[in-house]
Amino acid sequence: MSRRPDDPPLHFAAHVFVCCNRRPDGHPRGSCAARGSERLRDYMKARAKELGLKGVRVNAAGCLDRCELGPCVVIYPEGIWYRVNSPADVDAVLARHVETGGRVPALMLDHAEEP
Ligand code: FES
Repeated sequence: MSRRPDDPPLHFAAHVFVCCNRRPDGHPRGSCAARGSERLRDYMKARAKELGLKGVRVNAAGCLDRCELGPCVVIYPEGIWYRVNSPADVDAVLARHVETGGRVPALMLDHAEEP
């Protein structure tokens, strides 16, 4: 699906969803929160603010259904998915994707990875 010429302008230049779903320990799919996503979401929000990024919104999300690949982040309007494991990964995504419109190929999820 793509945007149409008569659609209203984007409200956010980058809308970042960080899965913060938590399942009980031992669940076969695991969960992003069990892998540290809540801490990484908090870090990402704080860093985006510190960097003064305009038009950027970082939101906690429920399960994004790619649990085995998490901690999962998806950024719209591009619809690019990342596995973000550390503050350094957050920094890379903010600096290269959000700030400059680039990509971080080493962290991007690929459909070929689906279990
Ligand atoms: S628990 Fe994060 S994608 Fe399902």
